[in-house]
Amino acid sequence: MDHFLYRNGSLHAEDVPISDIAAAVGTPFYVYSTATLLRHFTLFDEALDGMDHMVCYAMKAASNQAILMTLAQAGAGMDVVSVGEYLRAKAAGVPGERIVFSGVGKTADEIRVALEGGIRQFNVESEPEMEVLNAVALSLGKIAPITIRINPDVDARTHAKIATGKSENKFGIPIARAREVYARAGAMPGLDVVGIDVHIGSQLTELEPFETAYRKVAELTEALRADGHHIRRLDLGGGLGIPYEQSNSAPPLPLDYGALIKRKVGHLGCEIEIEPGRLIAGNAGIMVSAVIYVKQGEGRDFLIIDGAMNDLIRPAMYDAHHDIVPVVEPRPGIERQPYDIVGPVCESGDTFARQRAMPPLTAGDLVAFRSAGAYGAVMSSEYNTRPLIPEVLVKGDQFAVIRPRPTFDEIIKRDTIPEWL
Ligand code: LLP
Repeated sequence: MDHFLYRNGSLHAEDVPISDIAAAVGTPFYVYSTATLLRHFTLFDEALDGMDHMVCYAMKAASNQAILMTLAQAGAGMDVVSVGEYLRAKAAGVPGERIVFSGVGKTADEIRVALEGGIRQFNVESEPEMEVLNAVALSLGKIAPITIRINPDVDARTHAKIATGKSENKFGIPIARAREVYARAGAMPGLDVVGIDVHIGSQLTELEPFETAYRKVAELTEALRADGHHIRRLDLGGGLGIPYEQSNSAPPLPLDYGALIKRKVGHLGCEIEIEPGRLIAGNAGIMVSAVIYVKQGEGRDFLIIDGAMNDLIRPAMYDAHHDIVPVVEPRPGIERQPYDIVGPVCESGDTFARQRAMPPLTAGDLVAFRSAGAYGAVMSSEYNTRPLIPEVLVKGDQFAVIRPRPTFDEIIKRDTIPEWL
């Protein structure tokens, strides 16, 4: 469920007409709904009710500080994967003890900043990282709380580029070697082994892969406890998928996911962390774009819009589907026609949809890409010297620009010219 609905014939974000935002900030832009963000966070929080838990929002999905603050004020922790994300979360007011640090390539510098600034735990992904972390912690006279991310060799049954839990993926430590690696970690004086971490992939549309992974985590918890480790925290990762097509059957709900967690690991008495990103931000954001031209091609019509692959890369990168709807509500029964919906970037990959049935549209009409809140703005670039598009946050009948569109002057001035030119 989200808060982007037609009212009086036009698409709104909560109580704000999208066309008002377009008039104020120009197109294209991203707009997020506070109510949807909070609703999705609360669904997870309530799904884990009765367990000691923390929902650590995977901020890579949408990392604007206004979004982080909205969620943090509701009680969210953060999952970060770089020192940049760490500093951004801190700048948004998230205390270090509510931040977990994931990622396969944390550098010594990144580790130092997090240890100095305060961190809930590092999710360690390899033995070399463990050694660096131990050394940095000792050099600072600190003890680093860690989990070790295990790779459970589970097929998440999602797009290959976002599956992370199979043994051929770069993530985590093979579960078969976990006891040996935990023994090494337990002997390092700069580390405090607090638990286990697992994350098997993103946009999972079934519960079964989670079930298999969490069963393995539960077994490992018992084995490690028998080995003498004080395992008291389980970070179960993110990955629950969202409905991208309104017409399709919906993925499992957070409530079912929470029930599964309780069933699989509830008896262990551990503190539970989860790291959802997409399910919190995905359907809480849309990208709004305007039609520049309608071009008649050979046997097909192209809708050339002012948003492009640099603004929303998911269709080009993962063949992802986004529902695209007109901002003016189509009259009931209006005949639809197929369009190829494309951006202005000079590659054929800059195609959002092929032969998509839409009501007839003309230049200047606005369209909205639904489910674009997660992995949308954060993955954008300035390819073709197209400025990063603004982000807007709506709350009730108010809206605010939370990242302005840069001017061309700002973009051009960022380059520095060597003196020999
Ligand atoms: N935790 C870890 C360690 C992760 O690597 C990720 C996502 C998450 C949590 C959050 O997963 P989520 O709940 O959002 O599924 N750019 C891709 C998705 C990449 C996901 C990367 N890791 C896309 O647009 O589909």
